[in-house]
Parts: sequence; structure tokens; C-alpha cells
Amino acid sequence: MKFPQLKSKLILAPMVGYSDVAFRVLCRRFGAGMCFTEMISANAVVNGGVEVQLVNEEKPVGLQLFGKNAGVMLEAGKKFEKKVNVIDVNMGCPRVDIMQGGYGAALLRNKKEIKNIISALVDGLNIPVSVKVRKCRGVVEIAKIIERCGGSAIIVHGRTVKQGYSGKSDWKVIKEVGDNVDIVVIGNGDVNNTEDAEKMMKETGCDYVMIGRTALKNPRIFAGKNNCDSKEIFLDYLELAKKFGVNFNNIRNHAILFTKGMRGGARIRERINKCRELDGLEGLFNKLG
Ligand SMILES: Cc1cc2nc3c(=O)[nH]c(=O)nc-3n(C[C@H](O)[C@H](O)[C@H](O)COP(=O)(O)O)c2cc1C
Repeated sequence: MKFPQLKSKLILAPMVGYSDVAFRVLCRRFGAGMCFTEMISANAVVNGGVEVQLVNEEKPVGLQLFGKNAGVMLEAGKKFEKKVNVIDVNMGCPRVDIMQGGYGAALLRNKKEIKNIISALVDGLNIPVSVKVRKCRGVVEIAKIIERCGGSAIIVHGRTVKQGYSGKSDWKVIKEVGDNVDIVVIGNGDVNNTEDAEKMMKETGCDYVMIGRTALKNPRIFAGKNNCDSKEIFLDYLELAKKFGVNFNNIRNHAILFTKGMRGGARIRERINKCRELDGLEGLFNKLG
């Protein structure tokens, strides 16, 4: 099955605590080709322990699952296949608790499990399956396995597990993967502005560019702009967050990020951290100059 043809080359990354429905809709309105949900536990989905809010307006949207059991992953994917355009498998999370459970980037060490999971999802679902990986030993071979199993796209984050989220993202790995597979390749890591996105596509030949942290500070990057009025953007986000009933922790996470770089930001963040409810947070933002 083919990965959808997107109207923009830029995609919002899955980010726990940030890639909620309001932020995804905001990024789509600015022109993101597609957004991914944060990673969702396949076990929790199957046990009925999570709800993921998805709305038509945000389509095309990808839902990211983490899990290690092919049957459970498929059962979880089935619950969403009519609501989303792509199911993505997390094989890149470096968090210790996740990896110790055998999830996320731990799967990169287990080619048999990769085969089992991707084949089960591809055979059992009626929508495309993508996989998000990190730079690792044998990543090209892993990409080929994903392609052979019918995966539609591979998202390559050019940092190793050891690097976590710091240090340089190695774009050469993105190119190497792209040179060896014919499925869609999405490059990720270290895109700090629109010029970087262009550069990544030129240097690596990737089909799309996935943007994480830069988009959190400036979702207008999807509109081709390298800066934004943080207060205005936050209030737009807040409007959507209220409409969709996004949880307060996510709203506070965004509030904290949007004040980074603002004059007096540190003091504002101290007050945000003390907010326990929406009214207080909204009042605080409305008073900002
Ligand atoms: C707060 C935070 C949460 C993240 N959550 C996820 C996640 O749920 N799934 C995932 O595959 N990657 C996750 N990532 C990794 C990002 O999707 C992305 O690969 C990484 O930030 C590198 O891209 P960047 O340099 O553009 O930020 C997360 C990153 C951050 C900073």
C-alpha cells in the first residue's frame, strides 16, 4: 500500500506531551503535509486503557504505536484504521523504561521481531504502515526488511540511542537508507529552519522532512516562516485545545515552550509551572505584552 501523497514536504513529528489534537490541527492549518500522534501503547489500546482524540480536519494523520507483540500491535492498529491514514511503528524511542520493556529502539536489535510486527500489520491492515527508526548498526538492512515486509515508508532519525536528543543528527544515514530502498523515506533530526529542511532534502534525497522541536517553538515553519509571534500562536493553540478538551498538562507544556526566548520568559515560566488550571494560565497569557 502506498504512503499518501502529501501536499507539503514537511511533517510534524510524534512527540509525547505535545503532539495532541489541537497542536496537530494548528500545524495542519499552517500547512504541515501530515502530523503524527505521540506514541501510544498498543497494550493499553487493546486493554481499553487509552483514548486518542482524532478529528477529520487534521487528515491526513498518522498514529504511532509502540509495542513488541505482533498480534497485539495488529489488534491495536485495527482499532484505528478507519480513523487515520497511516499506522507508524515506534522503533526509535531511547527511553530506558521503554527499551527495558523491549519496546521502541530495543526492537532495532531484533530483526525477527521487526519482520513479525511489520508483516502482521501490513497483512492485517487496510492502510499504509510506516516505521520510525534511529541511526543504528545495520539500519540499511533493517530498512530493506521493512520494505520487503510491505512497509510503505521509513522515518529515519539520524541520532543514535546513545545520543538521545542531543548532538548532531547524521543526515548521511538518511541518504544511505534512501539509496537502498524504493519506499518513501522521511528524514528527521536537526531541522532548525526552512533552509535546513531544503538542505536535508537536497543532501539526502529524502521524500519528506519530519520536524520535531523546532515546530514546537515555531509551528509557522510549516508555512515557510522562520519566526512567529509566540503569544498569538499560543492563544490560537489554546482556543483549539479548549475546543477539543486537550488535557491541562499538554497545554502547560506548550505554554512553557512558547515562552522560551520571550523577554522575562523565565519569570513567566515560573508562574506557568504554578498554574493548576486553564483559567489561571489563560489570564497569565492575556496579560503578557
Ligand atoms: C518531548 C519529545 C517527545 C518525543 N516523543 C516521541 C514519540 O512519541 N515518538 C517518537 O517516535 N519520537 C518521539 N520523539 C522524537 C521526535 O519525534 C524526533 O525524532 C526528535 O525530536 C528529533 O527531531 P528534531 O531534531 O526535529 O526535534 C520525541 C521528542 C521529544 C523532544
